[in-house]
Amino acid sequence: METENKAQTEEEVEMPNRDLSEQIKEATKDSHVRAENTGLMLSYQKGQVTLAQYKLLLCSLHHIYVALEEELDKNSSHPGVAPIYFPTELARRELIEEDLEHFYGQDWREKMVVPKAAERYAHRLRQIGGENPELLVAHAYTRYLGDLSGGQVLGRITQKSLGLKNGDGVAFFTFPGVSSPNRFKQLYRSRMNSVELTEEQRKGVLEEAVRAFELNIQVFDALQDLVSSMQREADRQTHTSQAEQLNGTQ
Ligand code: HEM
Repeated sequence: METENKAQTEEEVEMPNRDLSEQIKEATKDSHVRAENTGLMLSYQKGQVTLAQYKLLLCSLHHIYVALEEELDKNSSHPGVAPIYFPTELARRELIEEDLEHFYGQDWREKMVVPKAAERYAHRLRQIGGENPELLVAHAYTRYLGDLSGGQVLGRITQKSLGLKNGDGVAFFTFPGVSSPNRFKQLYRSRMNSVELTEEQRKGVLEEAVRAFELNIQVFDALQDLVSSMQREADRQTHTSQAEQLNGTQ
């Protein structure tokens, strides 16, 4: 009995917390701060999101969630995926499509603008879905738990700064199948903790979560660059037409 207790204590000292949900939060703490400090997220925190930023964000998120959800569906009975597979509660694809239709019209598919960074993100999701499905939990955690946390505030900011009414254009932020985001997050964490992983796989999941944040940051940075170049082009056109008007009246 004494030996058993001693062994337990040593294990606790060496590995203070074995819960994947705690480890992943710890491993991505700095990445979360970096994501919060991207230009796009800083605009959000100032309550100043523009229509151009939000439309581009929706296009990228569509590309990303189509890949994530297709890979989760394909691997839904994989032991690393089954416990955290909640399509009814979490799936975002159709909700984003409603929003895209609201802003771009019925031919939104032809009008979408997707930066290379979002393509790289989707490519990574498809790669791990095919080769290492147990890493998908890192991506599902990063996106879905983020959407259920700070994402709820982002939804209200989007609605307010774009003057959207009746939930138009912000379906993405809603979770009709989740009555309490906090309770659902608890359930999700306990399911994450029930996934059986070898030490090597666990290390891989933690690294993949950092990579997932990095891929998000790259998408946000690419969006800001696109918005800035669209703004510069609009300014250039305004200056040109003002100059033409002036020349015409002289
Ligand atoms: C959790 C805020 C951006 C991913 C949270 C929480 C807050 C928050 C308040 C809850 C913390 C807790 O319950 O302990 C914000 C703000 C953001 C932002 C203000 C930007 C304006 C992001 C982004 C991502 C992200 C861009 C990922 C792409 C997450 C995740 C969690 C989380 C995965 C769950 C952490 C856990 O409980 O393990 N965020 N967030 N967040 N956020 Fe963010």
